[in-house]
Amino acid sequence: MKIVFIFFFFFYLLQSCICDNTIMRMQSLRDGDLIFSEGKRFAFGFFSLGVSKLRYVGIWYAQVSEQTVVWVANRDRPMNDTSGVIRFSSRGNLCIYASVNTTEPLWSTNVSESIVEPTLVARLSALGNLVLLDSVTEKGFWESFDHPTDSSLPFMRLGFTRKDGLDRILTSWKSPGDPSSGTFTFRINRTGFPQMILYKGMVPWWRTGSWTGLKWSGVPGMARRGSSIFHSSFVNTEDEVSITNRVTDASVITRMMVNETGYVQRFTWVATEKRWNVFWSVPKEECDYYAHCGLNGYCDPTISASFVCTCLPGFEPKIPRDWLLRDTSGGCTQKNNASICGEKEGFVKLKRVKIPDTSVASVDMNITLKECEQRCLRNCSCVAYASAYHEGEGGAKGCLTWHGDMLDARIYMDSGQDFYIRADRKEIERWNKNGSLRKRRVIFIVTSLIAAVMLLTVISFCFVRKRRKSNRRRRSSTILAPGSLDIEDQFRFEEDQGREWELPLFELNTIVTATNNFAFRNKLGEGGFGPVYKGVLENGMEIAVKRLSKNSCQGMEEFKNEVKLISKLQHRNLVRMLGCCVESEEKMLVYEYLPNKSLDYFIFDEEQRAELAWPKRMEIICGIARGILYLHQDSRLRIIHRDLKASNVLLDNEMIPKIADFGMARIFGGNQIRGSTNRVVGTYGYMSPEYAMEGHFSVKSDVYSFGVLILEIVTGKKNSTFHKESLNLVGQIWDLWNKDEATKVVDKLMNQKIYDENEVMKCVHIGLLCVQENASDRPDMPSVVSMFSHNANDFPPPKHPAFTSGRKTHVKNDDSTSGAYPSGENSNSVNDITLTDVHGR
Ligand SMILES: *[C@@H]1O[C@H](CO)[C@@H](O)[C@H](O)[C@H]1NC(C)=O
Ligand SMILES: *[C@@H]1O[C@H](CO)[C@@H](O)[C@H](O)[C@H]1NC(C)=O
Ligand SMILES: *[C@@H]1O[C@H](CO)[C@@H](O)[C@H](O)[C@H]1NC(C)=O
Ligand SMILES: *[C@@H]1O[C@H](CO)[C@@H](O)[C@H](O)[C@H]1NC(C)=O
Ligand SMILES: *[C@@H]1O[C@H](CO)[C@@H](O)[C@H](O)[C@H]1NC(C)=O
Ligand SMILES: *[C@@H]1O[C@H](CO)[C@@H](O)[C@H](O)[C@H]1NC(C)=O
Ligand SMILES: *[C@@H]1O[C@H](CO)[C@@H](O)[C@H](O)[C@H]1NC(C)=O
Ligand SMILES: *[C@@H]1O[C@H](CO)[C@@H](O)[C@H](O)[C@H]1NC(C)=O
Repeated sequence: MKIVFIFFFFFYLLQSCICDNTIMRMQSLRDGDLIFSEGKRFAFGFFSLGVSKLRYVGIWYAQVSEQTVVWVANRDRPMNDTSGVIRFSSRGNLCIYASVNTTEPLWSTNVSESIVEPTLVARLSALGNLVLLDSVTEKGFWESFDHPTDSSLPFMRLGFTRKDGLDRILTSWKSPGDPSSGTFTFRINRTGFPQMILYKGMVPWWRTGSWTGLKWSGVPGMARRGSSIFHSSFVNTEDEVSITNRVTDASVITRMMVNETGYVQRFTWVATEKRWNVFWSVPKEECDYYAHCGLNGYCDPTISASFVCTCLPGFEPKIPRDWLLRDTSGGCTQKNNASICGEKEGFVKLKRVKIPDTSVASVDMNITLKECEQRCLRNCSCVAYASAYHEGEGGAKGCLTWHGDMLDARIYMDSGQDFYIRADRKEIERWNKNGSLRKRRVIFIVTSLIAAVMLLTVISFCFVRKRRKSNRRRRSSTILAPGSLDIEDQFRFEEDQGREWELPLFELNTIVTATNNFAFRNKLGEGGFGPVYKGVLENGMEIAVKRLSKNSCQGMEEFKNEVKLISKLQHRNLVRMLGCCVESEEKMLVYEYLPNKSLDYFIFDEEQRAELAWPKRMEIICGIARGILYLHQDSRLRIIHRDLKASNVLLDNEMIPKIADFGMARIFGGNQIRGSTNRVVGTYGYMSPEYAMEGHFSVKSDVYSFGVLILEIVTGKKNSTFHKESLNLVGQIWDLWNKDEATKVVDKLMNQKIYDENEVMKCVHIGLLCVQENASDRPDMPSVVSMFSHNANDFPPPKHPAFTSGRKTHVKNDDSTSGAYPSGENSNSVNDITLTDVHGR
């Protein structure tokens, strides 16, 4: 009797008490009951979304204040009320029933064989994985990580096994309030060389690109080597193909998901602000969308802001008219008189490419790139080749060859790999000639520049004299030919034929209307060379107008030539000049208007700084680096900015940095274009020693200023603030660096949780390399840009930086009216005047 009673008591306990992270075989879980993972990060039970009454069963973050569901069991079959119950079926499957009395489950774990073990339990692991296992032998039968919904948690695998046909894919929700299966799926494609593809329905929407050995080639923002927090590993064996993302710091709360509108995103939880922060999100830009440029086209955002498609070497638009109308759906086709598999064939090499869809590529991991080339050359159907892995352990490895149409290739600014396209001799010559054509054009530009500069010397002399006289204002309105705004209507093949861009001219009337007759309240600032106004064109476009001093005697033609040159500089990280207005004595430059303020407003302000998380700062640093690289090297001119500083970096509404005030020098007149100048302009704190003291400038003086910028962004402090006899910012950092305490310099207001200390220290290291005293020790911009994607262990140690003491350095300056230095507390940089030198390569 007693024994029976104890047994029943025990049984009763089993029935009612839910032992924190486990459901026993004989137990059931009713609506309202929860189980928690060890550590209580995750909870499992019944829930509803928003105002909906529908009940779902799933796993969510228990410690995160915002309801964040990471897994839903019955996503397609919810319950209508709270009478649902979870229990094991007689065959040992964990099932959800609509009520206690129903026998047909709404959802089941569907393990095919019967599980007889009485010690079977369902346990929520600390990682957020619901596992069916034998609690004695720990043998597992089923886990929720094998059946993900829209989210991937750290340590979860995505991908498939070759034997039992298991495929772990992410499927988006239908809408934020409805977890039923949506239209987007994210999975590893089984054919060819593995890659992950985001599908919209059945149609590829975005592609990660293949595994580079280190990361997905199409996710440059993914954790890099040397990052100590995120780590991904890719497995491609006879048994399975999968990717596992891990975090090494268990306190970081992070998840990756496919959202309802087709974005793959990684989030990290910012506990102090109680919100999720987007760590990376793709697709990011139009070139990311699958096959944006059609068959055999490739997408190159560096050529033009508005039409990014080009045919691969050896190909031409299939329907040229459609292509001109920017309809790329017809794609490109092999030029019909190209000789394929003829004599003297070779390859055209494209750099920084996300290689085309590898699901149609042949792969051989055993041969080298050289052998790959030979193999491709011997096989007449081979159209292109590339190495399979180009990063990671052991460097480049393997061989990929394509034997048909190629889809979805694109160019990156600073990642991607070399890609070799088969072409005949004529085509290879054509591509090589493009290079030399450009060189010839540059030589022409250099010659005309030198001529222009000589003219300018005379002009600026005259300018100074004229300024001294008090000048009567005269104004007439000779109307010049109206120009078009559409300066980007260019395609590569047109450019090859040598057509020059038209100079975009604005009519004075247009500008007067846009700025409300230069109304005072439209004034953005006042610079040494005239005021800057905000304006709105008739079509709604916002512009910033820099109105140059009227009394300059610079000739119209020279001015136009200037503007022509500068308007060709187009880069995502440069403020764009839209054109100019030259009528009678009015000379105005028209820029795109950027609503956000300049970088100094964000990094030197306590409130703004706290908002600016590390990933954003990193993006800003990289953006500036790319902008400078373009000025130094990638544009057709070589341009030395000479006044890089936080107030000359504007931020657009997506916080993309844009370098402003480049290329003005020759408009305002500089005496010399190369090597040295006797008029030093610039800003204290950002000027390299050789430039500040001797007037020598080079690309390395910009590198110096960039180094200071990095250090300022990391620390949130100004370098130029002097403390008598004490060290300035660079000096302080150098001091701490040598004591191995450099981590102390990091902005205290920056959220500590979500940055990767190694990455921050890498930036400090790069910053210190850039501010080294000796210009020849400093890296050039291509090296700087590549450093960001390399391990800091490979960098040389920095040598002593320049200007570490707070004492003021004497700067030669023979034009104190220029207003170009020091920048003071000016936060609106549109009115900062900068002189910059432009000279041909
Ligand atoms: C919930 O209600 C809908 C509509 O009345 C019905 O079709 C569905 O079967 C119900 N679901 C359950 C689990 O009872
Ligand atoms: C379930 O069955 C019991 C007895 O068989 C009955 O009392 C109860 O009302 C039933 N519940 C439901 C929701 O049908
Ligand atoms: C379980 O199997 C049934 C029948 O094969 C299927 O309809 C159901 O969708 C499966 N459930 C899950 C959760 O896989
Ligand atoms: C893999 O991609 C190719 C080309 O996009 C497609 O034909 C094939 O159906 C895909 N396979 C899977 C399993 O999605
Ligand atoms: C998905 O992510 C994108 C990019 O962050 C965002 O613009 C969009 O609003 C998100 N969609 C939903 C439904 O949250
Ligand atoms: C192909 O033929 C066209 C016209 O016959 C000619 O203009 C073009 O230069 C040729 N292209 C090549 C690559 O031979
Ligand atoms: C590649 O090399 C490995 C070891 O050298 C060998 O076992 C394997 O069979 C080779 N694979 C191919 C496809 O040649
Ligand atoms: C060329 O390569 C393709 C794909 O790898 C292969 O199917 C074909 O047999 C090769 N042809 C020759 C002649 O080797």
